[in-house]
Amino acid sequence: MPVTRIATLLRDGQPGTTINARGWVRTRRDSKNGFSFIELNDGSCMKNLQIVVENSVPGYEDSIRSVTTGASISVDGVLKESPGKGQRIELHATTLLVLGAADPQTYPLQKKGHTFEFLRDIAHLRPRTNTFGAVARVRNRISWSIHSFFQNRGFLYLNTPIITTSDCEGAGEMFQVTTLDLAMLARKQIESIDWKQDFFGKPASLTVSGQLEAETYATAIGDCYTFGPTFRAENSNTTRHLAEFWMVEPEMPFYDLEDNMALAESFIRTMVSDVLEHCAEDMEFFSQRIDQGVMARLETIRSKDFIRLPYTEAIEIIRNSGRKFDYAVEWGSDLQTEHERFLTEEHFGQPVILFNYPRTLKPFYMRCNEDGKTVRAMDVLVPGVGEIIGGSQREERLDVLVQRMGECHLNPDDYWWYTDLRKYGTVPHSGFGLGLERAVLLITGMTNIRDVIPFPRTPGHADF
Ligand code: 4AD
Ligand code: MG
Repeated sequence: MPVTRIATLLRDGQPGTTINARGWVRTRRDSKNGFSFIELNDGSCMKNLQIVVENSVPGYEDSIRSVTTGASISVDGVLKESPGKGQRIELHATTLLVLGAADPQTYPLQKKGHTFEFLRDIAHLRPRTNTFGAVARVRNRISWSIHSFFQNRGFLYLNTPIITTSDCEGAGEMFQVTTLDLAMLARKQIESIDWKQDFFGKPASLTVSGQLEAETYATAIGDCYTFGPTFRAENSNTTRHLAEFWMVEPEMPFYDLEDNMALAESFIRTMVSDVLEHCAEDMEFFSQRIDQGVMARLETIRSKDFIRLPYTEAIEIIRNSGRKFDYAVEWGSDLQTEHERFLTEEHFGQPVILFNYPRTLKPFYMRCNEDGKTVRAMDVLVPGVGEIIGGSQREERLDVLVQRMGECHLNPDDYWWYTDLRKYGTVPHSGFGLGLERAVLLITGMTNIRDVIPFPRTPGHADF
């Protein structure tokens, strides 16, 4: 008999049909009248399937003792209308098979609630909890939504390299990739390394962004996007930073900054609508158990145009706010999370797109404005998270680009292929990057980025 997923059973299952269900036991209750109730979950939805097992089922006495929280079972039976509250149908077992027991003395996920900190240490079992099941399903839906948003607009999905020899953001936050025997080099007390001996013949790293490579395709085959793992060796132990995260980066020829902002705005709105429509049960859980404000925030995103604010005006607003911040700002300062969240959560109470940042704060590839001081950068800030998107119009003028590389202490020769794009058929173009985990934080109301990626990597932590 084919297995039917519990989400499908609960939605479409008809009383009277014979089915097989398999999954992991959440709880078992034994009634005095010779039967047991099992709550079974298979991860397809938040709700459990209620199973009634009479003691007349073959092998009941032997099996039922092993049906404890965490055990895996397979049950054949007949669906019936449920007299109890909370479910339309229940399964009346005709056979019960324990596939794998879970020793109640040692299985760590007992019925009581656990802290997220505790669950991080058992990241291999936490997807069996309500919260992490819901996060996994919402994250999956967001990824699907990202692909369909771009595919529906004719964007091409592009795979950019994970190992690279260029530092896109120029921030020096790269993880080195090497096959050199570091211990041996240390023993020999080598003073300088001969990179020709290394695997790629020169220093290589894990990518911090696929943007530069995406630009080569955007200026050839048109609108495209990369979506993949991204690595940053920033030593920031915050609830918003990971050393390994997933980033989606669209890149569009002939787009100026305005077009870029409009795309980013409708992108976020579509993602939010998609999850509200397709993950209603999980979203109800998040709004009841995790963050009571999450629905109102998402509704604002759906219904209100994002504020667009030049950096210079943002600095004025922050300075005139009368608020005390840990870091004071003046024109030219990088905004900290506290400032970003003040703007989007308190001052405006809705998403804000900041643009035209000082050129000293931003990477070499952003287009310089005529004022000589700012670049066509944009950051999208959202309540609960802060920066969720960073992007810009790209510098398409060769001479200005080379000058900016100099300012940023980069050698144009190392980026010869990137400058070639400006030598041969250059066009105005733009793009942005959205961190998938920040989107999951926004949409679920979860507060720690370590809890919205299956296996978080942060300074000192790369378990599992
Ligand atoms: O602002 P960032 O650094 O921009 C870029 O990498 C550009 N090359 C993107 C582009 O224009 N194609 O990063 C973009 C987004 C941030 O807004 C944030 O959502 C996410 O990536 N991000 C991180 N997410 C988790 N942990 C980190 N350490 C992150 N760093 C950036
Ligand atoms: Mg940024």
